Amino acid sequence: MKSKIKTVYVCQSCGTQSPRWMGKCPDCGAWNTMVEEQVEKSKDIGSAKRSGGMEPILLNEIQARDEDRFVTKIGELDRVLGGGIVPGSVVLIGGDPGIGKSTLVLQMLRQVSELRGKALYVTGEESPAQIKMRAQRLGVKAEHLYVLAETSLDEIIRAADGLEPQVLVVDSVQTVFTSELPSAPGSVGQVREVSGRLMIHAKKTGMPTFLIGHVTKDGAIAGPRVLEHIVDTVLYFEGDKGHSFRILRAVKNRFGSTNEIGVFEMKESGLAEVANPSEIFLAERPADATGSVVVSSLEGSRPILAELQALVAPSKLTMPRRTCIGVDYNRVSLLLAVLEKRVGMQLMGMDVFVNIVGGLKIDEPAVDLGIIAAVASSFRERPIAAQTVVMGEVGLAGEVRAISQAEARIKDAAKLGFKRCVLPALNVEKMDKASKNKMELLGVRSVDEAMERLF
Ligand code: TYD
Ligand code: MG
Repeated sequence: MKSKIKTVYVCQSCGTQSPRWMGKCPDCGAWNTMVEEQVEKSKDIGSAKRSGGMEPILLNEIQARDEDRFVTKIGELDRVLGGGIVPGSVVLIGGDPGIGKSTLVLQMLRQVSELRGKALYVTGEESPAQIKMRAQRLGVKAEHLYVLAETSLDEIIRAADGLEPQVLVVDSVQTVFTSELPSAPGSVGQVREVSGRLMIHAKKTGMPTFLIGHVTKDGAIAGPRVLEHIVDTVLYFEGDKGHSFRILRAVKNRFGSTNEIGVFEMKESGLAEVANPSEIFLAERPADATGSVVVSSLEGSRPILAELQALVAPSKLTMPRRTCIGVDYNRVSLLLAVLEKRVGMQLMGMDVFVNIVGGLKIDEPAVDLGIIAAVASSFRERPIAAQTVVMGEVGLAGEVRAISQAEARIKDAAKLGFKRCVLPALNVEKMDKASKNKMELLGVRSVDEAMERLF
């Protein structure tokens, strides 16, 4: 029998080692930070250095190979990846179970196999028959798409080397294990070791590799969080179960900008791209309702318009409720305090609910003024004119601060037929003629001034 390689548990925050697993690090006192690692790794690195013939290269002589990017022609995916799949890159796609990760990669593999050649889909969760059923539902008839039901890392690498696919997908990384570690598949040690080795394999062969990972609600101990720093690109696929919209978000990308998002809609026949998300997020906007306002959020390179709703109602609780969906709770608390103190709105005995329609999440200060406007609109029971967009950052003194890329946001809103925009005065001053002609721009310097303009 092959002897197991020696392992040791290492605290991830202070580096203390222990031969056994412990819930709490005896040295720094952190909980759940002990992770199993192989001993004697440093010896490998030493020998690689001695044998490797790597010489320093002049930066000017290195070829940038951006033209090698492979475009999948799923526009929303390509954009999030930074313009296509980069050879040798490792991409992690994380998300809740059932959100549509397997569907997304299967649709991607269809494109790969049609446009480029062989593709390999390794599944550790579903049987090939289940994959086939999903493929039929999606109408995937790819000729060069191979499926492998396997969970042993060595077998997966052997199969990939034999087949030499254009793209390798491992669904999911939590099911794969290496026999070099005694711990179970899905444990932090295994997940890290497996992705580390797939990373080395991808760099060596140039084979782009996609890893699928589940995230549990609390951010997952054995989830993909531990490998975010190993891989090149981390994408999160999110959306709530009640809505059909899905958002693919880049949270780390060595080959493109982060904050870029792709929007999809889950349909009977799979994921469909949503080319103009603003239209969809505004589709069911009620006319003349109080507490409803349209805000603009910059997602990567493109602005998206969304409806923000607030409801302010008298509370029976001693601690009135503050509920926020899609916006940051602390941000809303801060803005409510600004409304109380600077505008004199009595929100003390009121429940306040704030929601972004369509399951969108916005964490950009440019929606501050929109939150203020929606809360004020509901509190005063005065609707905001339908064709008005509101944007601006709000400071604690009640001042309205300039936002980034106001021109792009105005252009986008004008395209959808918006006629008026309440925005920071500073942005209006700096704006070029063309944008000024697109719609009526109401520059404001303070929350008070915004209230006057809006109501
Ligand atoms: P799936 O890709 O299996 O999710 P994950 O891999 O992230 O766990 O997709 C799960 C859900 O998507 C499932 O509840 C059914 C739904 N779905 C559709 O609505 N239409 C489709 O064409 C497909 C394939 C799935
Ligand atoms: Mg799946």
